[in-house]
Amino acid sequence: MKKIYKFLFLGDIFGKTGRKILSEHLFEIKKENEIDFTIANGENLAHGSGINIKGFHQICEAGVDVVTSGNHVFHQKQVMELLDDTDNLLIPANYPMGVPGKRYGVFNVKDLNVLIINIHGIVLINKGFNPPFRVVENILTEYKNFDGPIFIDFHGEATSEKRAFAMYFDGKVTGIVGTHTHIQTADERIQPKGTAYITDIGMCGPYNSVIGIKLESVIDQFLYELPTKFEVASSQPSIQGVIMTYDSEKKCVNSIERLLKIY
Ligand SMILES: [Fe+2]
Ligand SMILES: [Fe+2]
Repeated sequence: MKKIYKFLFLGDIFGKTGRKILSEHLFEIKKENEIDFTIANGENLAHGSGINIKGFHQICEAGVDVVTSGNHVFHQKQVMELLDDTDNLLIPANYPMGVPGKRYGVFNVKDLNVLIINIHGIVLINKGFNPPFRVVENILTEYKNFDGPIFIDFHGEATSEKRAFAMYFDGKVTGIVGTHTHIQTADERIQPKGTAYITDIGMCGPYNSVIGIKLESVIDQFLYELPTKFEVASSQPSIQGVIMTYDSEKKCVNSIERLLKIY
């Protein structure tokens, strides 16, 4: 059995700019860093909002193994078909009962089983999600005999909620990455009880943009309170995320490192 496994987590993939840069460079990043498994948040991969079939397959072909999501996941109707047909697309586990989609699951990384959970914050996001702390506690109870690493994509707006979540689940899961803000934070750490954590891993998309959008297409909202039609920016494509090195003997992450590539 292998001892060290390397996990790459990629921030929200934003529109064509994000998909294209992954198609062009993910393979070399994975090779350079000896990545065993790649998890990416795909909630913005279609035109900056939602997930379509073609875009989903494009990022899987580029090298993404599991796609997590967030508040934008249902913005393209085609996602319903994907949720029925695919095993490697997750929606936040705390969507209300009755919403279709897989919410967490065990995936094989060579001979290692990995539990991946997608969850949504409820602070500053008014969506009627169930309480994230309680939902994750219930999932962990269901998997109390699970022996492999457990990783969580916490998709949320408020840094305070992400910090509380990370501290509360320290020692109970292997790693927690924040997504949703599209801005990478510099607070990656191994917490006192061993859980690796970062508040936000950033975005795979246009670096020189307003969280993915062209300034010209959004500025009237800020200047005049007028509605605008968002356009995906294209300048300075970037790939952002973190790499966690997991030790299967010690059953913990040895290191968490930020990835920030601007092309
Ligand atoms: Fe996003
Ligand atoms: Fe989001």
